[in-house]
Amino acid sequence: METRECKHVAIIMDGNGRWAKKQGKPRTAGHLVGSENVHTIAIAANELGVKYLTLFAFSTENWKRSKEEVSYLMGLPDIFFKKYMKEFIDRGYRIRIIGELEDLPKGTRQVLEDAEEESKENTGLNLIIAMNYGSQRELVLAANQYAKDVKEGKRELGINEEEFSQYLMTKDFPPVDLLIRTSGELRISNFLLWQIAYAELCFVKESWPEFTPEILKKCIENYQQRDRRFGGVSE
Ligand code: IPE
Ligand code: IPE
Ligand code: MG
Repeated sequence: METRECKHVAIIMDGNGRWAKKQGKPRTAGHLVGSENVHTIAIAANELGVKYLTLFAFSTENWKRSKEEVSYLMGLPDIFFKKYMKEFIDRGYRIRIIGELEDLPKGTRQVLEDAEEESKENTGLNLIIAMNYGSQRELVLAANQYAKDVKEGKRELGINEEEFSQYLMTKDFPPVDLLIRTSGELRISNFLLWQIAYAELCFVKESWPEFTPEILKKCIENYQQRDRRFGGVSE
């Protein structure tokens, strides 16, 4: 049987805090284990033939959390890339960042931009980290930029979907094929609203620290058995 390609997988990595609480540990301990799992799952995704892996690391709404938790999350990219950047380069992975980097602490922004820059020649897995990302914000920024371009005479009034998508932070990536959310919550939480228009959805009960390459494989196998009709009729 011909297997359907699963080119772009996006994951809402949820449940770190609850996982930590169950072990009697602080929420930050869950985030550290969760960040280790990013490394494990990136390798697994690449081995399963995924070309684009987009991971939701910090949302525009996550600033509502305690100062301690936010500050811990802002420090994680540094720990993570110090540990794994060389390996990612050797494996040919390209790191991409989406989100409003301007509003991040300077150091965090620098680490993320350095990871992008260092890996920009790589042509393997695109590991896309969504940091201070919110989909509604992304759409509003796109609309504002388009309006500005029209006003300045750079664009005609009236663009199509393809042209509009070029204003999004994801302009270099294909649409999402499969969206996974861990930890049992059945919601999208302002992630990639435009990009998941025809994605297949997979909600798993395991929290992000418990999410394994085997579960990822199952999600992808399940995706491959689905009938994606894109509004048409199946054969
Ligand atoms: C996901 O885990 C990581 C981030 C949102 C940064 P949570 O921190 O949301 O964990 P729960 O959902 O509270 O258990
Ligand atoms: C979504 O998880 C954001 C990330 C995984 C980074 P949240 O835990 O913030 O989402 P809600 O609050 O449960 O909707
Ligand atoms: Mg959560």
